[in-house]
Amino acid sequence: MMAPDITEPRIVVLASGSGTNLQALIEATRAQDFPGQIVAVGCNRPQAFALERARQAGIDTFTVDHTEYPSREEFDAAFRAQIERHSPDLVVLAGFMRILTPGFVKAFHGIMLNIHPSLLPKYTGLNTHQRALEAGDTRHGVSIHFVTEDLDGGPVIAQAEVAVSPEDTPESLAEKVQRQEHILYPIVVRWFCEGRLQLSEEGVCFDGQPIPAPMVLPADET
Ligand code: GRF
Repeated sequence: MMAPDITEPRIVVLASGSGTNLQALIEATRAQDFPGQIVAVGCNRPQAFALERARQAGIDTFTVDHTEYPSREEFDAAFRAQIERHSPDLVVLAGFMRILTPGFVKAFHGIMLNIHPSLLPKYTGLNTHQRALEAGDTRHGVSIHFVTEDLDGGPVIAQAEVAVSPEDTPESLAEKVQRQEHILYPIVVRWFCEGRLQLSEEGVCFDGQPIPAPMVLPADET
């Protein structure tokens, strides 16, 4: 048997909800040639199904319940301490529904990714599918970005588009977008683990070159 590669990047995934993106990442990292390993999953909600998914996959979990902390700063400090115990090379926000303090964001500068269900810079914040429909957009999608202090405003690495049809509802659109999320996040996490992605002063660098615009997966026309 080959000895495990101890230099493999260590990934900590943070989630708050059902964890379908976490599941996609768990499945991707199971591939023999995946260049990183999920060492822990952290949650701010004790009931999040993401925790169950992690347990079923034999991954360490930790929960820091935000309702037990009087301030955002105190929650973030406790959560950060738990994350740091796992010495992450990469922190992946996968449906993590808390606004993070500047100190927390700085601690993981350049090694924290987030997934947001819109074609950023359009529709930061919540209800993105509803807002895309109300605006009459014909294209919608998902973005993956480095996390900076700007809420949903960090440099965008990659996007995947979906076509919006006249029959779409917020729910059907959410489903289409999620299908793309589950394809795109593992691709971007792989790039990071391979050392192909960096956050520099010029923005996102891919293979050592600043990218002029997010990389785009072709539209899903279904
Ligand atoms: C995803 O739609 C993601 O874009 C957003 O939160 C949702 C998380 O879904 N940030 P899941 O918990 O991964 O199923």
